[in-house]
Amino acid sequence: MKSVRLGIIGLGMGGVHARYLLDGKVNRCELTAVCDMDPNRLAKYNNLRTFRDAGEMFNSGTIDAVLIATPHYSHTTLGISALKKGLHVLVEKPISVHKADCEKLLEAHRGKKQVFAAMFNLRCTSIYKKIRHLVTSGELGEIRRVNWIITNWFRTEAYYASGGWRATWGGEGGGVLLNQCPHNLDLFQWMFGMPDRVRGFCQFGRYHKIEVEDDVTAYFEYKDGKTGVFVASTGEAPGTNRLEVTGEKGRLVFENNKILFTRNEAPMTEFSRTTDQGFAMPPVWEVAIPVPADTGAGHQELTQNFVDAILDGAPLVAPAKDGMRSVELANAILLSTFENKTIDLPMNSAQYERHLKRLIAASKFKKKEVKPAVNDLSKSFNK
Ligand SMILES: NC(=O)c1ccc[n+]([C@@H]2O[C@H](COP(=O)([O-])OP(=O)(O)OC[C@H]3O[C@@H](n4cnc5c(N)ncnc54)[C@H](O)[C@@H]3O)[C@@H](O)[C@H]2O)c1
Repeated sequence: MKSVRLGIIGLGMGGVHARYLLDGKVNRCELTAVCDMDPNRLAKYNNLRTFRDAGEMFNSGTIDAVLIATPHYSHTTLGISALKKGLHVLVEKPISVHKADCEKLLEAHRGKKQVFAAMFNLRCTSIYKKIRHLVTSGELGEIRRVNWIITNWFRTEAYYASGGWRATWGGEGGGVLLNQCPHNLDLFQWMFGMPDRVRGFCQFGRYHKIEVEDDVTAYFEYKDGKTGVFVASTGEAPGTNRLEVTGEKGRLVFENNKILFTRNEAPMTEFSRTTDQGFAMPPVWEVAIPVPADTGAGHQELTQNFVDAILDGAPLVAPAKDGMRSVELANAILLSTFENKTIDLPMNSAQYERHLKRLIAASKFKKKEVKPAVNDLSKSFNK
């Protein structure tokens, strides 16, 4: 194969992916087909093969690979049938709504040679790549504490009304944790690993007329004693994106798109144990961290990586199997809130699925869908 024939299912965010593909921004990849159950969304793709049914697109012989950009629950069902058809699959975040569905989806890929990736485009952002490098290379020393306030995911009532599936247990399976924060939870575990225990405090419909969580505070514990606090909301404006990492060798703060690194001349615990002065502090250096300018093209970079993996066996930036971790964190934060207790990881996927099914069955929430006058999806991408 010299070039990958790609199909897209779901033309909301999928339309954004289609744009850069049709502009030729991904080498050796041709967008040959699109699929959406809504015929209005297909209308502008008359030069391509169009389908209203994903199964027909899978059987059409017009594609080698598929990008799934539909509402969350269908990532599992569409992903499984695409993998069964022998297609390479790139799935939008979250890979599934809950851990049990992730397990089913990943099981469908077991032993298969197809490439299976997830759209964690923020892994391509220069600044996050740099922070990860500083953490994993040991530049900060052993990590003691991580605090991430990510409350600049502001969303309006018009946003929630724009899709009948949004912000319902049955349609989306959660709120800010399942829609906006899969990116941040993925980055959290990509940089610092998975915690061993999770305590969550969610508020449901605190800022919006929705039944799911739009405000979250979570506490993570790791076996090595490291702790994390993760705060997220879609109701706060202007909101904050502030990541603070405390390591033995200093403190890193990421805010306003800049990294500030205050480096301890001596590791803090060693200093504490060896100095004979009661109020001394390790001397510090302010270190300028050079970060290459961000291209702002994370989606197309990730799609390029998917294509390179298919054609050349390039290692994936975001293998789909990694996607289960952010789902598990989101599920554990919610389960901890519902049960008012700390959840040990790995969590019991069947227990969470049962809980979610009860919420869906008990839901009396009636949602009125109103298409917004203007919906500029590019404003939805957070850094
Ligand atoms: N990576 C990112 O930066 C980013 C940004 C926005 C959205 N997303 C993700 O994209 C996905 C879609 O979100 P959205 O905001 O585009 O939603 P949306 O409601 O705007 O669009 C979804 C589209 O999928 C179509 N659809 C639903 N089920 C279908 C099916 N079975 N077959 C064919 N078409 C179907 C709908 O008709 C609709 O046009 C979600 O997983 C979301 O989390 C990712």
